[in-house]
Amino acid sequence: MPKDIKTVRKCLFPAAGYGTRFLPATKAIPKEMLPVLTKPLLQYGVEEAISAGLDTMAIVTGRGKRAIEDHFDISYELEHQIKGTSKEHYLTEIRKVITSCTFSYTRQIEMKGLGHAILCGETLIGNEPFAVILADDLCDNEGGDSVLAQMVALYEKYKCSIVAVEEIPMQDSNKYGVIAGEEIEKGIVRVTDMVEKPEPADAPSNLAIIGRYILTPDIFDIIRETKPGKGGEIQITDALLAQAKKGNVIAYKFKGKRFDCGSVDGFVEATNYFYNKVK
Ligand code: G1P
Repeated sequence: MPKDIKTVRKCLFPAAGYGTRFLPATKAIPKEMLPVLTKPLLQYGVEEAISAGLDTMAIVTGRGKRAIEDHFDISYELEHQIKGTSKEHYLTEIRKVITSCTFSYTRQIEMKGLGHAILCGETLIGNEPFAVILADDLCDNEGGDSVLAQMVALYEKYKCSIVAVEEIPMQDSNKYGVIAGEEIEKGIVRVTDMVEKPEPADAPSNLAIIGRYILTPDIFDIIRETKPGKGGEIQITDALLAQAKKGNVIAYKFKGKRFDCGSVDGFVEATNYFYNKVK
């Protein structure tokens, strides 16, 4: 990859997880394809990446995830059936997505954690900064720039890895990567510590990482060296701590709303929110 690529063009979507919390729905359907209203979670993520100016989607899938590839492709039969009918507008959004970016895929063969999933994507990313979206964290910009667009703008200034964070109730710290650091600008923290899913007593703050990252490509070598951590998995939080120790990670308190669509409660909340928005 040419050395002069300094801007963020690519977005990696780890999408190999089993989605056990949504069984039996996720037995044959990838959890990333569960719809909030009529749109799959992953499409919301891709649209957010496009809104941030990214045009290359790199998706790390696994077994049983073929519906994802079919979704971001043309269905000739469907196109043929509804062309010229009153139903054609239902395809407008997805057509726009398909024509405004490219999709590439690789498989994570074994589930060894988020860090490992990101490392699997190295072949699609190469040696350039990239974004990561965890599609089950669904974000809404409430009219402003999308969360990823806000982060890309920040990357232009800081040129280092960035994690999106939000304040959480202390008792929820064991669901997230939690950071600590020093506020260098309003809403921007230079990270000095980060811990994956600490118990409340061990959490360094109430600032939790949500599923939006911008990573510099040296992260791949760091992940390769990262030992399994919480849950015996290779954690991106642990790899990022190595960058943070060199002062190369900032946390950003994003503007907007985020729903944890990896949980049934969050999914229902998101569905109600988006329904009320479009109603
Ligand atoms: C992952 C990360 C965690 C982060 C969270 C955001 O955890 O490991 O650090 O806070 O995503 O959603 P997961 O939710 O995949 O268990």
